[in-house]
Amino acid sequence: MYDALVAFCKWLEGTPWGVSTRTSLWLYPFIQLIHFSGLTVWLATNIAVDLRLLGIGKRRQTAAQLSDGLFAWNWIGFCVVVLGGFLLFSSTAGTYVTNPAFRVKLGMLVPLALVWHIVVQQKARVWGQAEETLPAGKLAGLMELLLWISVITAAVEIPNY
Ligand code: HEM
Repeated sequence: MYDALVAFCKWLEGTPWGVSTRTSLWLYPFIQLIHFSGLTVWLATNIAVDLRLLGIGKRRQTAAQLSDGLFAWNWIGFCVVVLGGFLLFSSTAGTYVTNPAFRVKLGMLVPLALVWHIVVQQKARVWGQAEETLPAGKLAGLMELLLWISVITAAVEIPNY
């Protein structure tokens, strides 16, 4: 299993996009910008719904309405995050994969937070139908906030290779 992962990383580093991202002076920072722009949209739309579930901020819409309204932007942001992250990873995949912070982030925290996010997005329609969110919704929103904070904390520990 580990050998297959190492072989995959070597292959990624040798792809045209892996080589270009590694050798170009400006491409890596430009792709960082893509990753971070996607993150801005993804995290902002997640946090807005989580705070509404918690009952913090304006209450012009219910949590269910807000979640539905932001749905498309939310997943567009995520696609941009994954595209940028994948390209950054391709530049020096073999090194990233040995970094503990990267492993914790991508191997554990991102899958966990993502599954939780999908559950919250589905359940927001039930928990967030009234102006006052149900207690389960509040707890779920708080949990999601904490999970994304954990992902960001692990991510900032990843060095720039
Ligand atoms: C949606 C979840 C994600 C979040 C919240 C996230 C967050 C971040 C943040 C905040 C950084 C900046 C670290 C810093 O420079 O201090 C970062 C860097 C990075 N991310 Fe992500 N990321 C996510 C998904 C991904 C995915 C799916 C991949 C790969 C397929 C990825 C690959 C990377 C790589 C390789 C870096 C290092 C870039 C660098 O700082 O040089 N990320 N991420």
